[in-house]
Amino acid sequence: MEQPQIIQLPKIQDPRGNLTFIQNGNTIPFDIKRVFWIYDVPGGEIRGGHALKTQHEIIISLSGSFDVVITLPNGQNQKFTLNRSYFGLYIPANHWRHMENFSTNAVSLHLCNDAFDENDYSRDLNAYLNQ
Ligand code: TYD
Repeated sequence: MEQPQIIQLPKIQDPRGNLTFIQNGNTIPFDIKRVFWIYDVPGGEIRGGHALKTQHEIIISLSGSFDVVITLPNGQNQKFTLNRSYFGLYIPANHWRHMENFSTNAVSLHLCNDAFDENDYSRDLNAYLNQ
């Protein structure tokens, strides 16, 4: 997968409460090596604002809603609103992203294919756009 896109995850509907799962080997296009989540975001705050040079990521809203804005290498913006926990946004490597418009109690889950590595970050938007 070369483009950012929404992946529909399995949803096991149940009157006792719904269930969604992800496992290595299918469902998503990489094996998961790292998971982190962002929560307690004060109103109006922005997270992200970087590209990952080699790592892929999937972002899921586990609770509430927020927008993920992707700035493509050509400078165009693509906005994805995440508000259902059975949708994952796949972000390929080398795509600038930030997250905004967090609702109260929003929780974003991030799945990555590698361990944290500050050297994999691109934090300069101009350098990213002029690569
Ligand atoms: P960062 O990715 O810069 O957050 P954002 O771009 O949303 O503002 O991460 C914030 C801090 O957390 C930074 O000091 C690195 C640290 N961090 C880890 O130690 N491990 C991780 O897996 C992540 C995502 C961040």
